[in-house]
Amino acid sequence: MYKNRLILLILMVGVTWARVEEIHDPEQLTGHKLVNNRLLEDMATNKYTPPEEKDPQFWYNLAYEELAKRLELPQPNAKKAKNIIFFLGDGMSLSTVAAARILKGQRQGNTGEESSLSFERFSHSGLSRTYCSNAQVPDSACTATAYLCGVKTNIVEIGVSAAVDYNNCTASQDPVNRLTSIAEWAQNAGKSTGIVTTTTLTHASPSGAYAKTANRLWECDTDVASYGVDPTQCIDMATQLVTQVPGKNFEVMFGGGFGKFVPSTIQDLHGNPGERSDGVNLLSKWQAQHPGGVLVSNRKQLLSVDTTSVSSIIGLFQSQLMKFHLEADETYQPTLSELTEVTIKKLSQNKNGYFAFIEGGLIDYGNHYNKAGYALDEALEFEKAIQLAREMTDIEDTLIVVTSDHGHTLTIAGYPGRGTPILGLNHHDTDVNGVKYSVLNYAVGPNNYLDSEGNRIDLSDQIGGNDFVFPSYITQAQGTHSGDDVGIFASGPQSHLFTGVMQQSTIPHLMAYAACIGSGPKVCDEV
Ligand SMILES: *[C@@H]1O[C@H](CO)[C@@H](O)[C@H](O)[C@H]1NC(C)=O
Ligand SMILES: [Zn+2]
Repeated sequence: MYKNRLILLILMVGVTWARVEEIHDPEQLTGHKLVNNRLLEDMATNKYTPPEEKDPQFWYNLAYEELAKRLELPQPNAKKAKNIIFFLGDGMSLSTVAAARILKGQRQGNTGEESSLSFERFSHSGLSRTYCSNAQVPDSACTATAYLCGVKTNIVEIGVSAAVDYNNCTASQDPVNRLTSIAEWAQNAGKSTGIVTTTTLTHASPSGAYAKTANRLWECDTDVASYGVDPTQCIDMATQLVTQVPGKNFEVMFGGGFGKFVPSTIQDLHGNPGERSDGVNLLSKWQAQHPGGVLVSNRKQLLSVDTTSVSSIIGLFQSQLMKFHLEADETYQPTLSELTEVTIKKLSQNKNGYFAFIEGGLIDYGNHYNKAGYALDEALEFEKAIQLAREMTDIEDTLIVVTSDHGHTLTIAGYPGRGTPILGLNHHDTDVNGVKYSVLNYAVGPNNYLDSEGNRIDLSDQIGGNDFVFPSYITQAQGTHSGDDVGIFASGPQSHLFTGVMQQSTIPHLMAYAACIGSGPKVCDEV
């Protein structure tokens, strides 16, 4: 037995050694390119290398800086978190994070690769495993259930356990199948709560904080009825938000999706007809229940709210999804940073603290359209809001956790030289026909850019705009999510817990531990 193990070990060492050899052989690394060697010819001149990086001391100094940063935290911040701000970048794969940081640096006139997003400078980070109970690659509904309710469930379902089948309303109403979210745990502890999204208030991600549904698309009664389900028996998500715990107690609700709250017989404040068939104006209902509350629908109204004199704020800034930051009228639609600022101002008035869910929801839409320029710009809007949140709050009492729900099939490939425009062509490689390709590509999406013979076409004349649709290998109306892990980035009390590789459903339990809320273990219980 022992002998066998020894032989196995020797075999393994042999394999490892062979691997290292392989990687160190440049011919293996660059493959056929050594024949038609655009990459090395061009790069050999060193023209892409920033001069300071030619000195080994540059990397030693950077390493010592990074080491010092880690040594500054000799003791983890073991305090209790009074406040939790949970930031969710929808569809923000790790490739999206890397590409966004490069774009950030390039917008500042630098090569870009060396840049960092605000949350990448947080003291602790880990990885989240995103699969759902019945899905290798998840959607935003089952993942919201994981990171807000702490339980993995089936794809397309929210706030109910995996015992509930898709579309089975009866099962979703059985109390044993219904979950509670960290927003409810926070409310039970006397904290203020709020949700913010750039999608709609009834979209899958924010709904994880309040909804219980066997189908994420049951956003209003009309949607429920369209599945042949009786909306008087099966309560739509907009109604749940306004009339049920914990939604009706939210002090901040910011997003799009006005139409889901008002009847089709009237126009919403953006001039579009409502979407409800039951004739109920949920916003009138909400205002009747919240006499000190205020409804806002544009940036000017939002910024004129005196957060100290209102009891709660609901903001519905578009009829449906909010617009991409690059397409929005910035005098009309607030930015995620502006939404974040008002949210923190309002919620921080509670001396017991608060829980806020804040979503950059359009990163996912940019990636679904294979419009990487939009996805990355939304990721940069997201990182700005996080930076503002960190600046507005005390690192001693406010835990900020940043993560994503699932990946997307974006890749950064082909040995482009340092500083190559991230939204441009890779000038250092071609396909087998000698045609250059873009730095960014998707596995799945709407356009593969092949000619009638199936050959890749030259993109030089098309690429470059923010709204360019990047190529994909598998043609589909839209890009799809991916099943790779996503990052978790944490700062503040108990941030050291958010390290290592964990189940996505563990995240809210760690936040609850840090803030001493919920029914599980709490830092306050430790002696
Ligand atoms: C819905 O779930 C319940 C269990 O809660 C089950 O009895 C019923 O058969 C299911 N309905 C359908 C249509 O599958
Ligand atoms: Zn998506």
